Amino acid sequence: MTVPFAPARLLFGGDYNPEQWPREVWAEDMALMRRAGVNTVTIGVFSWATIEPREGEFDAGWLDDVVALLDENEIGFFLATPTASPPPWFTLAHPDALPVRADGTRLSHGSRDTYAISAPAYRHAARRIARFLAERYGAHPRLRGWHVHNEYGSVDHGPHAAAAFRRWLRARYGSLEALNDAWYTAFWSQRYDGWDEILPPLATQYLANPAHAVDFKRFCSDEMLAAFAEQRDELRAAGSTAPVTTNFMHPSWDHLNQWDWREHLDVVSVDHYLDTDGADGEAHAAYAADLTRSWGGGPWLLMEQAAAGIRDGARHAFKEPDRVIRNSLGYVARGSQGALFFQWRASAGGSETWHSAMVPHVGPQSRTFEGITELGALLGRLQEVAAPPHDGPVVESDVAVLWEANGRWSLQTPHLPNDDLDYTIEVRSVHRALWRAGAAVDFVRPGADVDRYRVLFVPTLMALDDGTVAWLTRYVEAGGHLVVGRFTGVADEHQRVVAGGYPGRLRDLLGVRVTEHLPLAPDETQVLSDGSTVDQWTERMDPPQADVLATYAEGRLAGLPAVTRRHVGGGSATYVSARLVQESWDAFVAALLAERGVTPVVPEAVGTGLEAIRRRGAEGTYLFLLNHGETSVRVLGKGHDLITDTPTDPGITVPAGGYAVIRETPDATWSVHPLPSP
Ligand code: GAL
Repeated sequence: MTVPFAPARLLFGGDYNPEQWPREVWAEDMALMRRAGVNTVTIGVFSWATIEPREGEFDAGWLDDVVALLDENEIGFFLATPTASPPPWFTLAHPDALPVRADGTRLSHGSRDTYAISAPAYRHAARRIARFLAERYGAHPRLRGWHVHNEYGSVDHGPHAAAAFRRWLRARYGSLEALNDAWYTAFWSQRYDGWDEILPPLATQYLANPAHAVDFKRFCSDEMLAAFAEQRDELRAAGSTAPVTTNFMHPSWDHLNQWDWREHLDVVSVDHYLDTDGADGEAHAAYAADLTRSWGGGPWLLMEQAAAGIRDGARHAFKEPDRVIRNSLGYVARGSQGALFFQWRASAGGSETWHSAMVPHVGPQSRTFEGITELGALLGRLQEVAAPPHDGPVVESDVAVLWEANGRWSLQTPHLPNDDLDYTIEVRSVHRALWRAGAAVDFVRPGADVDRYRVLFVPTLMALDDGTVAWLTRYVEAGGHLVVGRFTGVADEHQRVVAGGYPGRLRDLLGVRVTEHLPLAPDETQVLSDGSTVDQWTERMDPPQADVLATYAEGRLAGLPAVTRRHVGGGSATYVSARLVQESWDAFVAALLAERGVTPVVPEAVGTGLEAIRRRGAEGTYLFLLNHGETSVRVLGKGHDLITDTPTDPGITVPAGGYAVIRETPDATWSVHPLPSP
């Protein structure tokens, strides 16, 4: 990160797409934005066709007017490069730049994201419009930053991708011998005798090659990063010094290894849409925020969330205004420099007509807009929170979870011992248990500095390279406490099994030798000696060179080890060989944290429905309290609630569904008492 991203206050607003509306509506937009306290919008995300209506012919008069209007109303803006949605003229002029699916279908325009990322014509056109925008608006005083593209992640399998993939493979492997070896092409006569024989992973008759599939994912992430970097370089070459970001996406649009992007972004930003309207949505928001903060290593920005809708299965569930506020505060508590939405005004037509917005179809006389206005007002009261700490992390944590895009990509390959293994589900189970235990959590990538963490979890990571094995070993030898979930380290980085007993890469560190993977039937569960329940997966292991913490209590593995711990100097390496159900992860994690002296942010809040998060700032610490429960709670401690502008020493009530943001007196301690229901 080279350009500082340091807004003086929390940013509030969302995607603004005025080209969908006549100008009378723009005037109303400005009045409503002012009423709601909007200070930031993102413009231009999908405006390519209106900015460059014909190839090389620019017409940005309307955008000048939008920028002038925002300026008059003292509203800052992110300017997007609109390259996620090339106009129809582009695809007609450059049909080779249309993306091809794995099944060979060439897509057509009529939606969005219709481009082949490696096509020279696309890359040229993307650079050209980025340059145009930078020259015209790059020095505007209200430009908060560049929002390059939108949610990189569209994958192409066409001829341009094939050529770029081959270049990437040559750089990675150097020789075809090395590639054939890494990909294990001796199996099924897949041996490559020339680089041109290698294709992107297209539809095949039967199972595809897993190493090929994972390398293609790695290539795609690198290729998208290269496309991003080209645009960023155009912005800089035009003299713009505004911070540059691109919005990542949770939970489903994950084709990137985001860790690799960090050094290319001035701030990490993300779009997050809850995956359920049930109570677990809060754990999902916490997961997304912790992961995003960790990707960037500091303050970040929530670029999009939904103002009133949650896509749960086939339906749009309504997101209550109090939940919108609590979620927004939750992101800010975990380091976001604001709360932005998709989108400002609900579209009257088009593909996302029914997506919620800050100004819904029914207009400002709505619970949604009232809630948005309330959120704008209260974020205004939290200005001081935006100033980052002078040193150290924005959220302090004693616990880390290893997260790696390669972990997901390995488990997406077919024909594993159990194809129900899902990387995100596994990682989230551990994060959810930590969240329920009230602990602050960081995510880390292999090689990160982990000395300060008392516990490091590896929920699962099938393929490990030498460096990662050495890094995990060093952590334990230095006194760290490592917890490794099943099916971790069974393969090298080319998805090749390390023979001689599972998990081949970690046998020594864990002191175990697993001889059989024994996945369970879909509805089958088993009980362990410590009362835990496991499902989906069990393993048979030899007597371990480690303590046995729990054995299988029933079934064919009765009496055999299920959870082990090897002590190494002052550290330890624990192996959980079966899949714990969530409640059992919860109990396991809570006990482990207590044992390792990791305390919840506010111990008395655990189990009350009150989520407590501490954000560090330039002036001290801020305790965010979000009451997701159905009971009001009384909270007592030394500080000042910025939301209600009241001292907290005599105690404050955080109502069910409510929240408080407390500037803490140094070393304040907090007591929490649920109030009896009226
Ligand atoms: C985001 C995207 C927005 C909008 C939104 C709707 O992923 O960036 O443009 O499509 O989803 O859910």
